[in-house]
Amino acid sequence: MTSARSLTAIVLAAGKGTRMRSDRPKVLHRIAGRTMLGHVLAAAREAGASRIAVVVEPGQAEVAHEIAALAPGADVFPQAERLGTAHAVLAARAALEAGDDDVVIAFGDTPLITAATLARLRAPLSQGAAVAVLAFETPNPAGYGRVLTAGERVLAIREEKDASADERAVTLCNAGLMALSGAHALALLSRIGNANAAGEYYLPDAVALAVADGLAVAVVPVAEAEAQGVNDRVQLSVAEAEIQGRLRRAAQVAGATLIAPETVFFSFDTVLGRDVLVEPHVVFGPNVTVGDGCVVHAFSHLEGATLAAGVQIGPYARLRPGAVLETGARIGNFVEVKNARMGAGAKANHLTYVGDAEVGAGANLGAGTITCNYDGVNKHRTEIGAGAFIGSNTALVAPVRVGAGAIVGAGSVIAAEVPEDALAVSRGRQRNVAGWAPGKRAALQAEKAARAKKP
Ligand code: UD1
Ligand code: CA
Repeated sequence: MTSARSLTAIVLAAGKGTRMRSDRPKVLHRIAGRTMLGHVLAAAREAGASRIAVVVEPGQAEVAHEIAALAPGADVFPQAERLGTAHAVLAARAALEAGDDDVVIAFGDTPLITAATLARLRAPLSQGAAVAVLAFETPNPAGYGRVLTAGERVLAIREEKDASADERAVTLCNAGLMALSGAHALALLSRIGNANAAGEYYLPDAVALAVADGLAVAVVPVAEAEAQGVNDRVQLSVAEAEIQGRLRRAAQVAGATLIAPETVFFSFDTVLGRDVLVEPHVVFGPNVTVGDGCVVHAFSHLEGATLAAGVQIGPYARLRPGAVLETGARIGNFVEVKNARMGAGAKANHLTYVGDAEVGAGANLGAGTITCNYDGVNKHRTEIGAGAFIGSNTALVAPVRVGAGAIVGAGSVIAAEVPEDALAVSRGRQRNVAGWAPGKRAALQAEKAARAKKP
């Protein structure tokens, strides 16, 4: 997707998004673990934009922070007053003056747009078009700007508020995104006025101005679904479903089996290897890498986890940030791993918490093993050597070390180092009293009967 022509992307991200009913700026709501703005910035970069300008609402520090984190080289331009889409683009005047060959304008609240579509949108510019408009056909055009044409020729875009009844019947709609030739962009945008029903400076008016100058205007088709904006939480969930669909297909195409793809939820950055099997009802949070041949059994939840090849987890496994499972490790049902490494072939098959720990290769943690990593103030580490065997229901009070090959008896509370190959048992010694139970039982029953007789 590279081109000899240089590309500036201007992303309009001003606006509070009132209909989201949120304390958070609209463009910072997340889809598949990444903000809407993050999706658009990624598409712009992937489409080849070497210069990115983002137009923001003044005073939205969180938006500026997100841009600095995701696109450190991007320039941020506040739009002092919300006077329309053309006015917003002109807020980034310095980016237009930088002189790149092509300019694409995207919206921070239109997160489904792909890099491939942005590349298609700018393509007509290299064939001499001054303006390219992204458009779709829909049976329900209400609310959209209509693309007015005469035969093959584009004449103008008419906003719904300004349209005549005939114009409202047009079903070719402006998706909002536009590409402008750098040579003409500033001159066209500077001439856009606000004599319309909304009193706004409309970016789509660049079309009629270009036509009047005898410049070529192209229409680039897009699926309506891809051009959907997000204005409320319902549309947010529609966008989420669309992106999840893409991520599921991408995982399948890359060689993972998803038994019930519609029940598996990915993050934008989930990486699955070949021949990974994902059973139903699995959630991948951000920053998960799954190696070749792993099995993720049903109802597991992963975030910030790295699985080497041949690892099996679940059903009902929970991997939290910093979980690293080496080749062939096995994490079973109701096991939580956080900030801990399980060495190659190490196992924790049932009901276990492994936090802030290093578990050596081939070690086995019995059911109910708990690393007591937190003293109420600080976190402490547990180290378990290779091949160690931790009996069921053991509490490992960190900081603590169990040497390689050691065995810990079931039910132990381990608060001191266990040397290599040692046996550690820390529990009361068992005492049996022969024949004691029947007498005790009879006494308890007699007491109960006496209580029942009392008035
Ligand atoms: C816009 C188009 C319309 C198109 C529709 C597609 C205009 C005038 N109309 O309408 O033809 O069919 O998108 O969804 O462009 N913004 C700013 N500053 C402003 C105004 C808007 O940053 O002063 C940003 C918004 O945050 C938003 C984008 O520009 O991301 C589009 O603005 P919006 O008001 O949603 O335009 P529409 O009325 O939907
Ligand atoms: Ca809109």
